[in-house]
Amino acid sequence: MEWWVSLPKVELHAHLNGSIRHSTLLELAQALGEKGVIDFSEVEHVILKNDRSFREVFKLFDLIHIITTDHATVTRITKEVIEDFASENVVYLELRTTPKRNDSIGMSKRSYVEAVIKGLRAVSSVDVAFMPDNENSINLVNSLPTTNDKCNVNTRKRIFVRLLLSIDRRETTAAAMETVMLALEMRHLGVVGIDLSGNPVVGEWTTYLPALKFAREQGLYITLHCGEVPNSLEIQNMLDFLPQRIGHAIFLDEQDWRKLKSDKIPVEICLTSNLRTMSVPSIDVHHFVDLYNAKHPLVLCTDDSGVFSTSLSNEYKIAATSLGLGKKEVFELSKNSIEFVFADSGVKEELRKNFDSAAKSLDL
Ligand code: IMP
Ligand code: ZN
Repeated sequence: MEWWVSLPKVELHAHLNGSIRHSTLLELAQALGEKGVIDFSEVEHVILKNDRSFREVFKLFDLIHIITTDHATVTRITKEVIEDFASENVVYLELRTTPKRNDSIGMSKRSYVEAVIKGLRAVSSVDVAFMPDNENSINLVNSLPTTNDKCNVNTRKRIFVRLLLSIDRRETTAAAMETVMLALEMRHLGVVGIDLSGNPVVGEWTTYLPALKFAREQGLYITLHCGEVPNSLEIQNMLDFLPQRIGHAIFLDEQDWRKLKSDKIPVEICLTSNLRTMSVPSIDVHHFVDLYNAKHPLVLCTDDSGVFSTSLSNEYKIAATSLGLGKKEVFELSKNSIEFVFADSGVKEELRKNFDSAAKSLDL
């Protein structure tokens, strides 16, 4: 895996609670088991299971949310997820999460997102640049040099992190709007856009549309989970909306593919996720192959690295092996992802420089 890990990478589709470490999830579940909140022996095998149907994946998310939704845990998993991505040379990360309200523990959507931001600040193994207007001085905020790293402060690794707030398909129009308002208020803290996700057989496009339209009018970026199940009308509506990116794009028909390609909407491709949920039967019939050959804008992503036991390095390896790509092509595929990030030209330029300097040590 060494080369794949060394390759600089850009992650644009990662759900916070789906990216939780196995060890952390088990540890937290065990602690809740000891308190009698859950039955650990029943939960353990659900966590450790590998292949899951779509229905089972969403049942697991409900379980994960019971285990993780308190402020301190949200902060902890945010910190760990960023450290994990940084440790496999992800140099730019867009992390998405659904702001949650839980009155019984005094959690509002706002305090949930604040706990996430606390997690960004808590990262110590790498410098985290997450405030767009403050990119150059951010290192002072989250990583004042300690005695130990005084001498290598200039050589520390750095990761750009941006946040997307997710609207869950179970939510009402008012709840979706609340998430958009929160995103607008938290722009200075690196919230750049809105995602629509959740169980694809639940909810109606028209419920979220007012909030998504408002978000776009206000200049937030939009990405939609699109075509995870066959739903022709919704897929057409989503493509007509012209989001800046879409995730998955599995059950598109001929006309949808033509529209997607003529509008050049970038696609977030999540190979392992699609295979594990059996949405795509095998890698050789995955639409990634056609989109890659058609030079359609796309970016490889993990979706839920914890739930699907993968990593971005692994996703690149799988893609390259299935298409027979050489190192140079893989490098270009990864570098090209920079074009689809929800960040300004200054960040893109810095990322390009980062890739170019890495190229020398990658045997290309
Ligand atoms: P969270 O938003 O940080 O809680 O991350 C987990 C949530 O992301 C899940 O409850 C879903 O709403 C969403 N999610 C994760 N994976 C998928 C997917 O494959 N399809 C649709 N939604 C997903
Ligand atoms: Zn997703």
